[in-house]
Amino acid sequence: MPSDITMDKLVALCKSRGFIFPGSDIYGGMANSWDYGPLGVELKNNVKQAWWKMFVQSRLDMVGIDAALVMNPKVWEASGHVATFTDPLVECKQCHERYRADQIDLAAPCQKCGNKGTFTEPASFNLMLKTFIGPKEDATAVAYFRPETAQAMFVDFPLVLQSSRKRVPFGIAQIGKAFRNEITPGNFIFRTREFEQMEIEYFVHPSDWEVQFEAWHKRMYEWMAFCGLKKDQVHDLEVPAEERAHYSKRTVDIEYDFPFGRKELYGIAYRTDFDLSNHAKATGKEITYTDPITNEKYVPHVIEPTFGVDRTVLAVLVSAYSEEQATTADGETDTRIVLRFPKALAPIKIAILPLSKKDELSDLARPLAERLAKKWRVDYDETQSIGKRYRRQDEIGTPYCITVDFESLEDKAVTVRDRDTMQQERIKIDALEEYLAAKFES
Ligand code: GAP
Repeated sequence: MPSDITMDKLVALCKSRGFIFPGSDIYGGMANSWDYGPLGVELKNNVKQAWWKMFVQSRLDMVGIDAALVMNPKVWEASGHVATFTDPLVECKQCHERYRADQIDLAAPCQKCGNKGTFTEPASFNLMLKTFIGPKEDATAVAYFRPETAQAMFVDFPLVLQSSRKRVPFGIAQIGKAFRNEITPGNFIFRTREFEQMEIEYFVHPSDWEVQFEAWHKRMYEWMAFCGLKKDQVHDLEVPAEERAHYSKRTVDIEYDFPFGRKELYGIAYRTDFDLSNHAKATGKEITYTDPITNEKYVPHVIEPTFGVDRTVLAVLVSAYSEEQATTADGETDTRIVLRFPKALAPIKIAILPLSKKDELSDLARPLAERLAKKWRVDYDETQSIGKRYRRQDEIGTPYCITVDFESLEDKAVTVRDRDTMQQERIKIDALEEYLAAKFES
């Protein structure tokens, strides 16, 4: 675990700087609901865009979809979620607190009231969030918010195959919200009832699954390196058969050392032909693939690398966080908090900081900020001392601060400060865009 970071510090920083707020805050909040603020939405969007670029846009064997969130309820019967997407629930008979039976010691006292031997027998609790579609609220109108984005990739497989004319092996990707009525949400954005997933269903010949599993597992590590996650804080867990999801023949959980312990970040599963075959059975439609060269007809098997967006954001924040002793621009020594985001993920790329609020500096700095904002996300800040402004930008992980001073009026140059090294360079305004473009490419 990174030594500097605690969850209390991170949650406070996220709130004060506008990354992540408690949801419905002015109503006293809503348990385990979080809103992404102005910086959080930039960070999250950067994560999703980079993921899409790495796994969809830059690969000829991948296509994407964006499917409806509420699907035909029969989908969830065929997929096995209605019958088996459950967690074991126990309740304390004294205080009625509820727990996941697999996450507590049932012989120990209740964590809330301290009574011993008061737990009910574990009962299966279905995690799907139910709703009603249309004006009638009866059994015929029941529908579910999707508990995973994956099913749409299986249900749409025939139409994607037909329209995109891809050949196996190929994959379908989707980014979107998923919902689970978790018994014990918690740990900030780690486990919530509403979250986002980035998922890939990669369709392969049944004989090819092991090779493809290894290849995708390796690519997941390349992604984590891109996100700045340190290798020694990431761990594989081979999930034993009795703990695997109902559809999986092999699952590796990729765990990360969060400040609250080592927990699942991502997963990769071999889903066999479970989903395509079950949807074929349930609909009476043939869902197969015919190899155009060998004419072999078969049901493709599936490798599924799955990534939680919110857990990625949390791991990126944890990895980026550092504290160090530094001398401020005003000559004092203090603790510098820096979010060392990879530049591609940083919510704000450049801060323009005129040394004073005087009109002659604003007249130079504002048009400069507007010009750069056409290419990068820019912050413009002209209040407080320059030292305080640098610290604020360090705390939100801005890679470059640009100071416009009175000399700039004469030499038509500005000072560029690097977040990580705190080195400053004087750059001509005319050459600034080229200079920054090279920096962001490196
Ligand atoms: N389609 C497979 C699937 O959904 P999963 O392991 O249940 O597998 C995939 O979920 C990923 O979604 C997890 O590795 C995690 O990153 C994220 N995730 C799952 N439940 C979550 C929750 N309650 N809150 C936030 N993220 C969650």
